Amino acid sequence: MSGGFGGAAVMGRRRFLVVSTAAVGLPLPVSGRASRSSPDLGPAGAGATSTVGLTVNGERRSAVVDNRTSLLDLLREHLGLPGTKKGCDQGACGACTVLVDDRRVNSCLTFAVMHDGARVTTIEGLVRGGRLHPLQQAFIDHDGLQCGYCTPGQIVSGVACIAEGHARSREEIREWMSGNLCRCGAYTNIVTAIEQTAKEA
Ligand code: FES
Ligand code: FES
Repeated sequence: MSGGFGGAAVMGRRRFLVVSTAAVGLPLPVSGRASRSSPDLGPAGAGATSTVGLTVNGERRSAVVDNRTSLLDLLREHLGLPGTKKGCDQGACGACTVLVDDRRVNSCLTFAVMHDGARVTTIEGLVRGGRLHPLQQAFIDHDGLQCGYCTPGQIVSGVACIAEGHARSREEIREWMSGNLCRCGAYTNIVTAIEQTAKEA
């Protein structure tokens, strides 16, 4: 997949991966398709299950999962939250971005069992009292989407980008959003939506 938010995209995406994977204790994926694949415990882990309890969007949830289940599959397949999207399933696109204890994480790259007790926020959790989050509204107002597949990850990542204080300029937004790819190339309007929301925050 090519493209990105700008010239700093490659370095920025790598920095994003360092931050997100380090936050959950996983090694940084290196180049090469095999090394970027979903978590795999191998034969020794096959069939073993665990009960995982998390607070998801403010609600206590739990599920019994195979230890090899990714956080993304836990959310989508076990907890009925399909808003978080599976794009590459290899840590390369950012479509699966969620917040774990307020930090951005590629949920396809990390095991659910590693997050027992964590607080997870997905795109569904940004709506408050029936009202869209200001960044969700800004994506609508500024046409920050085309097909919409990358959009949940873009918005969750954008919320964190603003909260981190990394939305002070368009260049900074491009750098800190470079882990989220958009096949439709809606980058200009995505940056505008984040920029406007940051100014009004
Ligand atoms: Fe997780 Fe692409 S689906 S990074
Ligand atoms: Fe289509 Fe981003 S809006 S991939």
